[in-house]
Amino acid sequence: ELADIGVLGLAVMGANLARNAARKGFGVALYNRHPERTDELVREHGGEGRFLPSKTLEDFVASLARPRAILVMVQAGKAVDDVIAELSPLLEADDIVIDGGNSLFTDTARRCKACADKGIRFLGMGVSGGEVGALEGPSMMPGGDRSAYDRLAPILDRMAASVDGTPCCVYVGPGGAGHYVKMVHNGIEYADMQLIAEAYDLMKSLYGLDAPALAGIFSEWKQGDLDSYLIEITATVLRKTDAGGQPLVDVILDEAEQKGTGRWTAQSALDLGVPLTAITEAVYARALSAQRARRAEVERKIGRSPPPARKAGAAAIAAVRDALYASKVVAYAQGFEQMAAASAEFGWDLKLADMATIWRGGCIIRARLLDRIRAAYDRDPKLGTLLLDDDFLSAVTMASDAWRAVVGLAVANGVPAPAFSSALAYFDGLGRARGPANLLQGLRDYFGAHTYRRLDKPGRFHTLWSEGGAEVQVDR
Ligand code: 6PG
Repeated sequence: ELADIGVLGLAVMGANLARNAARKGFGVALYNRHPERTDELVREHGGEGRFLPSKTLEDFVASLARPRAILVMVQAGKAVDDVIAELSPLLEADDIVIDGGNSLFTDTARRCKACADKGIRFLGMGVSGGEVGALEGPSMMPGGDRSAYDRLAPILDRMAASVDGTPCCVYVGPGGAGHYVKMVHNGIEYADMQLIAEAYDLMKSLYGLDAPALAGIFSEWKQGDLDSYLIEITATVLRKTDAGGQPLVDVILDEAEQKGTGRWTAQSALDLGVPLTAITEAVYARALSAQRARRAEVERKIGRSPPPARKAGAAAIAAVRDALYASKVVAYAQGFEQMAAASAEFGWDLKLADMATIWRGGCIIRARLLDRIRAAYDRDPKLGTLLLDDDFLSAVTMASDAWRAVVGLAVANGVPAPAFSSALAYFDGLGRARGPANLLQGLRDYFGAHTYRRLDKPGRFHTLWSEGGAEVQVDR
């Protein structure tokens, strides 16, 4: 009997997705560039379901039922183009290629078109959840050819995580929409992790709490509004000791690496003109973390002393928790605003409530908060920003005194909290009908005759700054 789906590329994500599909009862064709990897997978997990391993691409393609569906799990970038080029001549009209890697959405849009020109249906699918998610049920964000999605939905829905009986998989939109949404997911993941790291740093640096004590605090937070996978694993990582018995986190090098999706999210936000401050700060924080030698050199020159020890009272810790929650709402609000802006720009018709729905389970940013985000977009699908939703606005407003106190304390004591403080600055800027950009406009008009508009009358104006200072109206 032929296979229902093929998986090409059997590194950890590909292998686990293949096992996931096989465990759900689907016949799974396997191919890997190095056949030893395929053999190993079949040797170790062959009993989990029906696998059809192949040593050549020709045999692999021949082992698939038509229209063939091939999930490509290779490294994003050139490898994906290479695989498509090798596969295309072996495929027939209506066959389906799914790229399940973290591809750049513009690459996906290009591949979608190029494949369509050859009669091949292409899906660019974000897959989140790491290795465990891939095996036990990830969140999946397929975009591209709609008919290909419809054909595969019965398989994808079974493979995906589910929450309250709803699969964490939905058709996102055409072209590169699926990979775009996954990119923003990762951007939010960056911001969420940065905020958690800042909360950790503040409690460690201001209150002298050690890793086991901090693990206890994060475990407690997991019981409340902050309930999320990332908070849960924060407690686990903080609790871990190394072979010598010391907290592992205390000996992990403080240089964050990155593969690009967070940076792409920030770059796209700049292109779209979306104020994506939290995610962008998180990307910058990783970049600064990577300059470890320079940081050490500057610290030596400054010769700074640690902040005075304080007692960690319950109210102080609760303030950090509230600041974290409010900042997190800002990060998610900005990420969702960016998806709405991209949807308008590229004509995707993204359903934001659906995106919140499929992020409730399986993925790295799964959190109780996403239920509330879904509810907000269900109430008003056109909601301009989550911060205009009554529930979110009142939650953030209630947290704002604590938020200000925490950011103030961080600033006063020289503990950098870029994501906390920029999220607060964003919130304050958003909640202010009149900002200082009037002066920017005046300056632009002064040096470049860029013109300005006035509050008190319609039209566009220019002041003849160097020619007597009279104001002229330049258009109606
Ligand atoms: C996920 C993760 C996954 C991967 C990130 C890590 O959703 O399962 O986001 O895609 O772990 O790409 O990204 P960085 O290496 O850039 O931190």
